[in-house]
Amino acid sequence: MEQYVIKGGIPLVGEVDIAGAKNAALPILSAAIMSNETVTLENLPDVNDINVLIESIEKIGAHVERVDRHTVKINGSTISDCAVDYESIKKIRASYYLLGALLGKYNRAEVPLPGGCNIGSRPIDQHLKGFRAIGAEVSISHGTIIAKAERGMRGAHIFMDVVSVGATINIMMAASRALGRTIIENAAKEPHVVDAANFLNSMGADIRGAGTDVIRIRGVEKFHGCTYSIVPDMIEAGTYMMAAAATKGDVVVRNVIPKHLEAVTAKLIEIGCEVEEGDDSIRVVASRRLMRTHVKTLPYPGFPTDMQPQMGAVLAVARGTSIVTESIFENRFKYVDELSRMGANIKVEGNTAIIDGVSGLTGARVSSPDLRAGAALVIAGLAAEGFTTVDDIVYIKRGYEDFDKKLQSLGAEIREVASERELRKFELSVG
Ligand code: UD1
Repeated sequence: MEQYVIKGGIPLVGEVDIAGAKNAALPILSAAIMSNETVTLENLPDVNDINVLIESIEKIGAHVERVDRHTVKINGSTISDCAVDYESIKKIRASYYLLGALLGKYNRAEVPLPGGCNIGSRPIDQHLKGFRAIGAEVSISHGTIIAKAERGMRGAHIFMDVVSVGATINIMMAASRALGRTIIENAAKEPHVVDAANFLNSMGADIRGAGTDVIRIRGVEKFHGCTYSIVPDMIEAGTYMMAAAATKGDVVVRNVIPKHLEAVTAKLIEIGCEVEEGDDSIRVVASRRLMRTHVKTLPYPGFPTDMQPQMGAVLAVARGTSIVTESIFENRFKYVDELSRMGANIKVEGNTAIIDGVSGLTGARVSSPDLRAGAALVIAGLAAEGFTTVDDIVYIKRGYEDFDKKLQSLGAEIREVASERELRKFELSVG
């Protein structure tokens, strides 16, 4: 029973360093096995999803050396198996990146269908459509996706039916080793797509246009080694910015790329925060009660779906009625019932949440339904009066490095506890 227990009502104040982006690190770690030379990856976040993926990579035979908490060296020359084991990979959604990596390198991949957060139906038809377009035969048997291209892969012109981060990166990986030129139209433009492309290029790939909606890839015969540092995590940064807003705090997030956070920054300014951008930092100051707004999640550069629950927690205590529309994943309002238990006044109709801001929340025992919803509940607990206990923090640990410790460094009273006794002890110690 791992939980966070929080005594709320304390404005967060101080500076916090942001880790490398989980959603960039997952494809980059997968792609690293495509080289037979050593690849050094720096600024990896130390979170559960990354550690699960590293174990899976080791299990198929790659050599992984952990240099320090945030650095690994990977050598894919010793891979002996193109079939990824279900037990090791079932917990993470991004297992699908091993499909693109193994297919690109060996023209064959067997990867169990992905698991991950239950935030709605998460088809992977666009990934498979892309693999098929470049010449792979793809079938699904006993829960495993089998992709093979016995006669090799050939570049193709692919138009994505939906904007998908995962499919764009996966096709980019496989097509980097196909013969000739691939064009991906209606590609995702997220910073992690750009980071994955930059990394592949550092290994010798020829990818142009990442960050726009047309990506051009010229296949190359092999990849070499390189050293690469993962881009900062815009969602982790955005989460601390929201925590500052909800607690009427004053927080500087450091080691970020402010441009990646423009949609989040714009909304915070709109609801009444002061936001100062530095070269690689952003300061958020919330000195008065915030105001209502409308938010609609969209692919980058729109407002990120991964920030929607945290924004919902902030708007729950803002003045007036806010409308939040979720247009990417239909099941992303699971935090609403839990927030309501803390006194929030929110009604969900289809893909829209109507949030009537209340003057304050009260602490309660709540449970984390998924990664970002869990982060939203922690933010709500930090803003609420009294004690909040957040259960099922295993989800939160999938994506946030040292969440409790970083919040403590900003003045929050939050502890991870593993028993009822520890919980009582914390409650007594902070009064
Ligand atoms: C990634 C992120 C996730 C984020 C999401 C959107 C990782 C590990 N996860 O997820 O945190 O919330 O981007 O920014 O990086 N779709 C299809 N068919 C497909 C693929 C996707 O219909 O083959 C749909 C999805 O159901 C969804 C939309 O496209 O409605 C976007 O999904 P996608 O960008 O692929 O999300 P992920 O890559 O899974």
